[in-house]
Amino acid sequence: MRLLIFEDYERMSRWAARYVARRIAREATVQQPFVLGLPTGSTPVGTYRHLVQLHREGRVSFRHVITFNMDEYVGLGPQHPQSYAAFMHQHLWDHVDLPPEQAHIPNGLAEDLEAECRRYEEKIKQAGGIDLFLGGLGHDGHIAFNEPGSSLRSRTRVVTLTDDTVRANARFFDNDPARVPRRALTVGVGTIMDARQVMLLVSGQSKAWALHKIVEEGVNHMWAGSALQLHPDAWILCDEAATEELKVKTVRYFKEVEQETLAELEE
Ligand code: GLP
Repeated sequence: MRLLIFEDYERMSRWAARYVARRIAREATVQQPFVLGLPTGSTPVGTYRHLVQLHREGRVSFRHVITFNMDEYVGLGPQHPQSYAAFMHQHLWDHVDLPPEQAHIPNGLAEDLEAECRRYEEKIKQAGGIDLFLGGLGHDGHIAFNEPGSSLRSRTRVVTLTDDTVRANARFFDNDPARVPRRALTVGVGTIMDARQVMLLVSGQSKAWALHKIVEEGVNHMWAGSALQLHPDAWILCDEAATEELKVKTVRYFKEVEQETLAELEE
């Protein structure tokens, strides 16, 4: 596991966007599109803003990119402003040259949700697997919507959200937990683990305990993100605030070993 620590959210977001743009520019071709896994939530918003900017400057094209989003609420379609599909339109899809047929997100309105989950896994396989899965981290250590107790080998499936997650996400629903859907479709921890590279974005002091749990403690299904300890190429990008619960020794070590990687894409 690699841990890249940035001074603040803005620097982390800019670096992440530059990294993604560089991978796409170097690797995406007609014959072999770059397959990118994408998260929602407030954390990736800055990264999307920078990616859109890089696209406007002509430094990245999404023509040969295929995307797969992590999750979607059951019962919400793209027309619903709080759906993750609407979020993606607002923050990325409508501002870059990604062909709409190459952007995938689980269909929360599917009649047969189980079949939709199987179809989603199949689509990822057909695309050749995911090259880079970007993700966020929930306060309880969840990745995508893999809540505490999720099997670390789980696949795309229907899940029930915990009260904590419903409360955390109520801010997008007029602060009314009753309006937050209780169920979601999510890629599994196993689906994320199959990606060739995983990159989590973690920001703010409110995520510090979860970051400590997944970096400094053992692999544990109660902190689903800790599964990344077993991934051969997992990166965590975080800001200083999120490191508050890490050992000084941990922070110092990673700052030192990742110095050059950070400098490469910083101004
Ligand atoms: C939701 C999403 C996750 C996301 C998490 C953290 O539960 N399903 O994919 O990582 O929230 O969101 P935020 O970045 O807003 O803290």
